[in-house]
Amino acid sequence: MGATLITNIGELTTNVGRDGDLCGTLHDAAVLIEGTRIAWVGAASDAAARISDRDIASTRPGVGEQLRSQRPNDITRHRGVGGGGVEIVDAGGRAVIPGFVDSHTHLVFGGDRADEFEARMTGTPYAAGGIRRTVAATRAASDEELRGRLAGFVAELHAQGTTTFEIKTGYGLTVADEARLARLAAEVTTEVTFLGAHVVPAEYADRREEYVELVCGEMLRACTAHSRWIDVFCERGAFSPAESERILVAGIAHGLAPRVHGNQLGPGEGVRLAVALEAASVDHCTYLSDADVAALAGSRTVATLLPGVEFSTRQPYPDARRLIDAGVTVALASDCNPGSSFTSSMPLMVALAVREMGMTPAEAVWAATAGGAQALRREDVGGIASGMRADLVLLDAPTRVHLAYRPGVPLVRSVWVGGERL
Ligand code: NIG
Ligand code: FE
Repeated sequence: MGATLITNIGELTTNVGRDGDLCGTLHDAAVLIEGTRIAWVGAASDAAARISDRDIASTRPGVGEQLRSQRPNDITRHRGVGGGGVEIVDAGGRAVIPGFVDSHTHLVFGGDRADEFEARMTGTPYAAGGIRRTVAATRAASDEELRGRLAGFVAELHAQGTTTFEIKTGYGLTVADEARLARLAAEVTTEVTFLGAHVVPAEYADRREEYVELVCGEMLRACTAHSRWIDVFCERGAFSPAESERILVAGIAHGLAPRVHGNQLGPGEGVRLAVALEAASVDHCTYLSDADVAALAGSRTVATLLPGVEFSTRQPYPDARRLIDAGVTVALASDCNPGSSFTSSMPLMVALAVREMGMTPAEAVWAATAGGAQALRREDVGGIASGMRADLVLLDAPTRVHLAYRPGVPLVRSVWVGGERL
């Protein structure tokens, strides 16, 4: 793979924080990509010196002269380069941010629940029981159907600037179906989460003890090969704190790392449990006590907020300001699923977080990129620095603020994943 120089970047969000600037902002910047990684980040005026004469010559005769003689703002774009050449992309003064890291999705499923959404909009509250409807539709879908659907979602994610995403199982809830969903998810991401403890399926309604036993044993063993994480829906109507702890501990014993759905529908033990088990993240965090906030602040557990859920269920938004002011690390994710949040749009999450949750635009963009990376304990994504994976988004806007300032407008102009322009 060759090299790409993106130059004439009006505002570059590196997330390498300094001097109180969380986003490590550079102006008039350039980024050099070599292969799958970022090779250099700096001032556009220094870009020419970073490209060897040989590379420039192989790009196109005369381009070296142009680079040396013209001001960076005049660099034009040269495409179709092969071999060791350098493709030069003129960002035209626009903003570049790291690719979004969506650390919480449920993208392998069949059917949809538009009827439930419609009912909610006339006053029927969201209930976890709806998950069973998607379980039935997912069990009925073939591998090919699920794979086709997943490919569509991945294209949707990429088009909106998401370059790393987690996917949970949780709509199979039999040993064979959970293993199937983990396998299909692993075809498109390394961040697969086993969520056999999503709800107790209908056939175990009177035997929940047995179901928990199954999740901790045979089902877990069938899913570990394709999973990195274990998750539980620790909530009234799903799994109790004691059940959740048992399931997470079993997952940890099988080499999976814990994450938790907690405090979504009401106050509860999810946050306390996540912190006690040093989970990478506890997700939702809508109903928090002061003790929950203090526990998170003193931990390595990220609070992942999912504002698509509150948007789609008309519940109160979580208070991001309270968490950030207490020193908690906050991430934003889509929770894309057919029940509580059927959107894959990280730009929408940024806009909602700013408008509804008290976050500044810089905090929201950080949370949707670097925050998501921390929630997945990843150091190679979520920022733009030498050595990191070359996942970048060129916005059709001069600043990242526009993501919240122009909600609903497609501002993603170009996306690079692992150095490859999509
Ligand atoms: O994260 N909370 C549990 N799971 C999903 C909802 C899934 C569904 O309703 O299908 C969530 O909100
Ligand atoms: Fe979820």
